[in-house]
Amino acid sequence: ADGSGKPRLNVLLAGPRGFCAGVDRAIKIVEEAIRRYGAPVYVRHEIVHNRFVVESLERQGAIFVEELDEVPDDAPVVFSAHGVPKAVPAEASRRKLFYLDATCPLVSKVHREAEHHFARGRHILLIGHAGHPEVVGTMGQLPDGAVTLVEDEEHARSVPVPDGMPLAFITQTTLSVDDTAGIVAALRERFPGVHAPAKEDICYATTNRQAAVKAIAPRAALMVVVGAPNSSNSLRLVEVAERAGCPKAVMVQRGRDLDLSLATGLGTIGITAGASAPEVLVEEVLARLRERFDVAIEEVVVAEERITFKLPAGLNA
Ligand code: F3S
Repeated sequence: ADGSGKPRLNVLLAGPRGFCAGVDRAIKIVEEAIRRYGAPVYVRHEIVHNRFVVESLERQGAIFVEELDEVPDDAPVVFSAHGVPKAVPAEASRRKLFYLDATCPLVSKVHREAEHHFARGRHILLIGHAGHPEVVGTMGQLPDGAVTLVEDEEHARSVPVPDGMPLAFITQTTLSVDDTAGIVAALRERFPGVHAPAKEDICYATTNRQAAVKAIAPRAALMVVVGAPNSSNSLRLVEVAERAGCPKAVMVQRGRDLDLSLATGLGTIGITAGASAPEVLVEEVLARLRERFDVAIEEVVVAEERITFKLPAGLNA
C-alpha cells in the first residue's frame, strides 16, 4: 500500500499491444479524406472494430454505413481495413463513386494469394471465422464455389472438397496462431499435397500480440484485454491468455467497463489491447485501476514493431 492506503497492484503491460500498422493506416485514410475532400466522408463498415475510434471519426465528419447503396453519388467512400469482396469496388466504379480502399496491405496480400491459386486451377480452403468481414472479403475475391471455409480442426477433417482438383489453403490474418497450426496439421494429414502460403497469412501484429500475452499470462491472476467483441484479434487474446495459464481473462471496451472487484485481492494482473484499440483506452483502464489501487507497472516487451504502411496513392504527402 502507498501513503493513500490503497492496496498495491502490479500490472504487467503486454508489448506489443494495441494499434497495428494496418489500423493506423486505415484511420489516417479516413482523416486525410475528410481533410482533403471535406465532410461528410462515408465509410463502408466500421473502419476498424472499435467504437471509440468510430465515434471520434464521426465527430470529425465520417458517416458509417454497412452497404454501398447507403452512400450518395457525390460523396467519397472509404472501404474498411478488413477488405471487401470484388463486387464492392466494381459497384462503386459502376456508380462512378470516388472511393478509397483502406484494406490492410496484409489482407490484400492474402487476396492476391487466393487469385494466384485460382489462376492455377486450385480449389482454395480458407481457414477463418464465418461471417467476419475479412472472410467475406477474401471469399469475395473469387467466384462462388472457388473457396471453401474451414472453421476448425474437426471441420478440416470432414469438409467436402471438389474431386480431382489440387488444393491450397490460405487464412484470415487475425486467427489464433496455435489453433491454426492444429487446423493446418489436420489439412496436411488429409491432403498431403495441399499448397501452403509462402509466408504465414496470420499477420505480424496478431502473432506478436498473442506472444506478448503468452509471456505475461502465467504471472497474471487476471488478464484485461482492451478491445471489442466483434474484433477477431481481440477475442483471440482472451482465449490465448486463458490457455496460457491465466485463471481469468476479461474484455473491456472502455476504462469504466472494468469491474474493479475482479482485481481486488490480486497481486498481479496483465493488460493488453487488440490491434484496433487505441492506447488512450489502455490509459483509461490504468486510470480506472488507480481509483482503487496503488498501481505499479511493468512493461513486458517480446517484440519491437517498426512496420508502417504508406497511404494509397493520391492521399500521401
Ligand atoms: Fe493488418 Fe494485421 Fe492489423 S492484417 S490491419 S496488420 S491486425
